[in-house]
Amino acid sequence: MCHDGRNMDSRLIVALDYPQAASALELAGRLEGLCSWLKVGLELYLAEGNSIVHELRRRGFSVFLDLKFHDIPNTIAGAVRSAAAAGAEMLTVHAAGGPAMLAAAAAAADSLPHPPRLLAVTVLTSMDHEQLAAVGVADSPARQVLRLAHMASAAGISGFVASAQEVRDLRRSFPAAALVIPGIRPSGSRTEDQKRIATPAAALADGADFLVVGRPITQAADPAAAASAILEEMRSASGVGS
Ligand code: C5P
Repeated sequence: MCHDGRNMDSRLIVALDYPQAASALELAGRLEGLCSWLKVGLELYLAEGNSIVHELRRRGFSVFLDLKFHDIPNTIAGAVRSAAAAGAEMLTVHAAGGPAMLAAAAAAADSLPHPPRLLAVTVLTSMDHEQLAAVGVADSPARQVLRLAHMASAAGISGFVASAQEVRDLRRSFPAAALVIPGIRPSGSRTEDQKRIATPAAALADGADFLVVGRPITQAADPAAAASAILEEMRSASGVGS
């Protein structure tokens, strides 16, 4: 993807990992004017359903619906259509669902008048070598990410979710792909359950298009200040002052 370095506010995606709408909307209110993308994941979506997607859209945000679909192709095609109808502009499917499922997702998106951007989740950023081995994958996370990305790309999906540790290899293999990178931790912050992490500056330098940040913003004493600091780090990483 090509970017204007000044547009960092459209390249930071804040994960609204909350149990109910009130906290999510409070944070959204603090982030208005700072960033344009908010991510709704399983916790919030299962509590609030499509109404939270509608409300965030009404407030002018773009919504990344991160439900990581993984089911049979026919079910996934329907889920993609429903998610798009709900207002999701970006959504995730698990690459591990296989080529037929990914192709069904891509075809469903392409059939829509305003196709959402589909992202194939490669290897979760909380997975390391040991976790992968436990589910029967002997390869390193890096090799598995590339394998799944090639498979997803052949099935018609040109956006990937991976960790910052794989972003450089992915960018080399897929110059035009949309690379969406979670597991971002500004220097000095806690890693929590994430294993394959990087700073915002490092992820951008290696070729990330979008950075997904949750707890470093949602758990901060001043979330707006935390988001501003991350945006500032992103702007200086791309050589553009504030
Ligand atoms: O709080 P934290 O910054 O770790 O949040 C990261 C967000 O990105 C969470 O919402 C998580 O579900 C999501 N995510 C991830 N790893 C992936 C895909 C999505 O951490 N591979």
